[in-house]
Amino acid sequence: MIVPFEDAFVEQAADLLAATHTTGALDLADVGVARRLVARWHGSGPAVAAVRDGALTGFMAAGPPRTPGERRARVHLPQHACARRPDRRATYRSLYAALAARLAGIGAYEHTLAVPVDDHETVSCFFELGFGVDRIRGFRPVTRAQAPAPPPRGTRLRTATAGDLDGMFALAVELQRFHTAPPVLRPVPPDLRPIRERLWTALAEDGQLLLVAEEYGRLTGLIQAAPDGHRLGAATIGIAAVTARSRSAGVGTALVRAVEEWAAGCGFDAYGTEWSSANQIGDAFWRGLGMVPAQYTLARLIDSRVAWADARLSQGRTAP
Ligand SMILES: CC(C)(COP(=O)(O)OP(=O)(O)OC[C@H]1O[C@@H](n2cnc3c(N)ncnc32)[C@H](O)[C@@H]1OP(=O)(O)O)[C@@H](O)C(=O)NCCC(=O)NCCS
Repeated sequence: MIVPFEDAFVEQAADLLAATHTTGALDLADVGVARRLVARWHGSGPAVAAVRDGALTGFMAAGPPRTPGERRARVHLPQHACARRPDRRATYRSLYAALAARLAGIGAYEHTLAVPVDDHETVSCFFELGFGVDRIRGFRPVTRAQAPAPPPRGTRLRTATAGDLDGMFALAVELQRFHTAPPVLRPVPPDLRPIRERLWTALAEDGQLLLVAEEYGRLTGLIQAAPDGHRLGAATIGIAAVTARSRSAGVGTALVRAVEEWAAGCGFDAYGTEWSSANQIGDAFWRGLGMVPAQYTLARLIDSRVAWADARLSQGRTAP
């Protein structure tokens, strides 16, 4: 039976989360961590639960829109789990049906869902519901003995300073534009201020790494890394870009190896990043550097004209 998610389910949901997502980009095996993560999303957006004989067998929740009228609804890894029972696939399908009705009812027609790469059953289940792979989060171990890769001749790597902000912003915008090309075909976000703010925070915050590559005084590359907010003992690379003219010459590899050196110095065991699956250059680059996929973000885009075809969806009259 699918019902709205209630307070009474919080504890069982944390147990389910810790028991089912044993891999992926999150440390979820610890029930205490799982409990905190469930408490963080509970009550903030639409959520549904599957109940059998009074016990919770699954749940699915989506975050609230980040901006008013946002059409994308995200289901992060701590926001779904299903008991490993023979009816797991059917339960996930019913949970998604109930959640999708609620999301469409509030105008959210782009649904994303994070799932561990090796949970093949869940990946197939969502493929069969019309999802595809949008982004990949991968990790690799920090190899302490590895020598840094030297940048190409004429290029030097250095820590970024406030004076680099405009140059770094230009590189980050170039990266956004790069993603508009096929087969990624992702539009540049209408508001680019958050990118500038992210760079500014990375400059100002202790514990983050912000490096630039410079060729005869001109910025050609950028990399930003910080402790991973979800996986203990890991660092994460947030922004990585090399300007078009300087690509395929080893600048990107040198920047990543410098991150690895920094991560080793900070005592991290692993580092990772996320990339668009359809980005052929990025995908080859990260996999070539040993990133092993741990988590997919699956995505499904719904034709919003369905609201015109079904009045219940445009009036928010959705069950449960
Ligand atoms: C991805 C990127 C950061 C790599 O930097 P780079 O300086 O070009 O990388 P390197 O010269 O060190 O190349 C390392 C590997 O990347 C891959 N690569 C680089 N350019 C490539 C290209 N044009 N086509 C396919 N693979 C490519 C190759 O696997 C290459 O290894 P190889 O030289 O042994 O073949 C840079 O090309 C870039 O910014 N590209 C556009 C935006 C992007 O995808 N950024 C990554 C964010 S997810």
